[in-house]
Amino acid sequence: MLIVALDPPYDADVLKWIEYRYNLLKPYVQGFKIGLPAILEVGFKAIGKILKNYEGLLIADLKLADIGDIMCISAERAWIHGFNAIIAHTFVGYEQALDKLSKLCRERMLKLILVVSMSHKGSAEFIDRHVEEFSELARKVGAWGIIAPATRPNVLKRIRAFVGNNIKILAPGIGTQGAEPGTAICNGADYEIVGRAITHTENVLENAFKIIEQQKEEVAKCRGLQ
Ligand code: XMP
Repeated sequence: MLIVALDPPYDADVLKWIEYRYNLLKPYVQGFKIGLPAILEVGFKAIGKILKNYEGLLIADLKLADIGDIMCISAERAWIHGFNAIIAHTFVGYEQALDKLSKLCRERMLKLILVVSMSHKGSAEFIDRHVEEFSELARKVGAWGIIAPATRPNVLKRIRAFVGNNIKILAPGIGTQGAEPGTAICNGADYEIVGRAITHTENVLENAFKIIEQQKEEVAKCRGLQ
């Protein structure tokens, strides 16, 4: 399963850039993730108009890390403009933070996705020391999903073993950051998040098809179907 990260380069016409890729890719992927590069330039409102009525996963990647009341205001903005999932950091903790955000997400039927490890190397410096505690907190607040790195298979496997199967794992790090398509799913992820290896190329659709094909092959291999 594939989620496309729509992160336009700084010199792009952001709305046109998103609209073009969204229309091309939406029949073939399971969701889109919009982060700060687009949101800072044009805002949720304008982006929400383009993505209106989309029925897949629509993730607002703000990586929220604030006090609960303020995270709730940000999450509510995402919800108002049609997003159905939101990413927040786990290190802010439960009391007066994720307790409030998780409550709002339940009320609004927003899928809460918590970062328990990151795909870049620096995640090992601080964040990865707390992977189990973060995963436990994600379970405690009833998060719909967690983010874990495609780039570090052992961390990903450890997280899947720890959380069991009642929580979705979304794994960034495929393509530009080095992991091969399909490997994160083989290591326990439900979704692979891919950005630049699809969206920053000339042949967006062709590259998306290649990645989907590679995912299928890799998964067939690791599940012994090939
Ligand atoms: P690329 O272009 O590297 O894009 O395929 C990856 C996308 O995923 C985001 N990203 C992360 N988000 N935790 C997150 O919540 C992570 O560890 C992480 N690593 C990458 C990145 O912002 C981009 O949109």
